Amino acid sequence: MSESAYAEAYQRSTEDPDAFWGEAATAVEWTTPPERVLDDSRPPFYRWFTGGRLNTCHNALDRHVASGRGEQPAVFYDSPVTGTRRTLTYAGLLDEVRRFAGALSSLGVEKGDRVVIYMPMVPEAVVAMLACARIGAVHSVVFGGFAPAELAVRIEDARPVVVVTASCGIEPARVVEYKPLLDGALDRSSHKPETVVVLQREQARAAVGQRDTDWEELDWAELVADAEPADCVDVEATDPLYILYTSGTTGRPKGIVRDNGGHAVALRWSMANIFDIGPGDVWFTASDVGWVVGHSYIVYAPLLTGATTVLYEGKPVGTPDAGAFWRVIEDYGAKAMFTAPTAYRAIRREDPEGDLIRAHDLSSLRAVFLAGERLDPDTYAWAAQRLGVPVIDNWWQTETGWPIAANLRGLEPMPVKPGSPSVPVPGYAVEVLDEQGSPVPAGTEGAICIRLPLPPGTLPTLWGDDERYVASYLSAFEGYYLSGDGGLLDDDGYLFVMGRTDDVLNVAGHRLSTGSIEAALAGHEAVAECAVIGVADELKGQVPRALVVVKSGVDAQADGERIRAELVQRVREEVGPVAALKEVDIVPGLPKTRSGKILRRTMREIADGRTPAVPSTIEDPAVLEALAPVLRHEA
Ligand code: COA
Ligand code: AMP
Repeated sequence: MSESAYAEAYQRSTEDPDAFWGEAATAVEWTTPPERVLDDSRPPFYRWFTGGRLNTCHNALDRHVASGRGEQPAVFYDSPVTGTRRTLTYAGLLDEVRRFAGALSSLGVEKGDRVVIYMPMVPEAVVAMLACARIGAVHSVVFGGFAPAELAVRIEDARPVVVVTASCGIEPARVVEYKPLLDGALDRSSHKPETVVVLQREQARAAVGQRDTDWEELDWAELVADAEPADCVDVEATDPLYILYTSGTTGRPKGIVRDNGGHAVALRWSMANIFDIGPGDVWFTASDVGWVVGHSYIVYAPLLTGATTVLYEGKPVGTPDAGAFWRVIEDYGAKAMFTAPTAYRAIRREDPEGDLIRAHDLSSLRAVFLAGERLDPDTYAWAAQRLGVPVIDNWWQTETGWPIAANLRGLEPMPVKPGSPSVPVPGYAVEVLDEQGSPVPAGTEGAICIRLPLPPGTLPTLWGDDERYVASYLSAFEGYYLSGDGGLLDDDGYLFVMGRTDDVLNVAGHRLSTGSIEAALAGHEAVAECAVIGVADELKGQVPRALVVVKSGVDAQADGERIRAELVQRVREEVGPVAALKEVDIVPGLPKTRSGKILRRTMREIADGRTPAVPSTIEDPAVLEALAPVLRHEA
């Protein structure tokens, strides 16, 4: 592999990052070019492109209009749940963004101010994000499937001046009214915004401005009708573009910060070199703007590239059938698509033979990219065989914003090894370490780490919390970023990711915290203590399972069914329906170490039918023995 384009790029990116990323940065338009590429003056806090100034919205929209792409579609909005389609050209999208940016300015939003966006998959969500970028405001998009309590902690931490929402989102089985959820969150939050802007959707209009609140409530359409268009505000490369909260093991989410300069450079580089997408190509990412995949690969990367992005408001199945993705690819001539493996498992369950794949013309499709959770070899084989195009696994995290490991379709396609997201991407010095922090030999499992500095576009810190950034990611092994995933590198340098080594859950590609689910359960009056573990699930990869000890005096025999149902409902209300908690067991005790740490991992291994690693520090092995049949569904 030594002569390969990949090997050459990888080596240069690690040995001479200044030259490598300095060159990549020429693909972005700067108002002031960077003074330094890698600023390593304050380790472990590395910054990219210091001294550089730019505007991300200019790079995503204005520059393409100026270069003659004004009439090219920027966004194909396709919404089977409302029966709507809309094409937004680059010029049209720019016009809407300029007006909404002006509207935000008129509400007092200034550079550096935060704006929380709680919206479904509608074009206005993209407009709101880009409008923030345009005036240097920092957006924080919250996924619509989160409940008020989760929204509230994000609002409290980000302290937005404005919250932008829609009257409703549409799930296949029901209309989800967002406004009452937002009101619930604002009731809980000690921070209140100055203004709430509501996009009215016909499926369920919201009452706006009719109650006595501390904040002003405005209708999106009325606000925009009076708005003066706004121009781009210059920001530092290192100024934040957005905060995206992600789940850790505790109930308090982590505010991942993304800067402007490194992000624009890295995403453009990734589109060309990993995804092989260029200006004018049509690209379809089926995820949600509330997740990092949506931020990077529905919104920013395709627009920074001058490509056309499909914004799909629907599901892989049921809207109306398991052929929905293939219909979208055919209708818009998508060159590639990106989604989570779960979506393909859902499709496969309904259309195992791929009849609906054959019913569509997929001649435009060159590759399929899957990420967000482990791509199991079975799903890989099914997709590769039925679709007849390369199926490319790629591994990354909210923290990094773009792939850490992938098969680089643009730079140099490589053979695929099922079960592996292929090789470390240039910029990421991936190493697998043992418990002492020494690199392990090829083929040996350990903690997947990245030698610092991380490349451009990755998190420079956590919002307002440098200390937590260091404690969470940089303190396990000095000089390394701890990914939280375990795995191995094989003899050919291919990475195999085995799963989280902490208690973070991954349910249908959605990252969830055991801590917040446990906190919701613990709030029930009958619960003495509880633990949540993520167990293997055929469709969703992982689902949560709750083990609950009830308080003395509670009659688990008589009241068990009611308590279990109430607990499931509490988690829906406190965390959100995406937590998908269905299984709650009332048990006599939870296994712990002598210092009181609950043995979640051991329980998870038993539930998944694996041989458990029982630590020698276990307090009372009898508790675990008694629980094992419950975990294995034998009792
Ligand atoms: N707003 C409100 N509720 C939402 C929501 C949103 N944006 N997204 C999901 N929900 C709700 C669903 O309606 C469902 O509620 P229910 O329990 O009342 O049925 C619950 O959250 C769980 O949703 P979901 O995870 O979508 O599970 P599902 O069983 O309805 O569908 C799949 C399974 C595989 C079809 C679905 O998970 C999917 O489309 N996955 C794609 C993966 C993906 O986009 N991952 C993002 C990271 S790349
Ligand atoms: P998120 O931050 O929501 O993108 O979730 C990141 C986590 O999802 C990672 O730490 C992994 O545990 C998991 N993950 C994402 N992509 C992959 C992949 N391709 N293979 C295995 N695990 C993945």
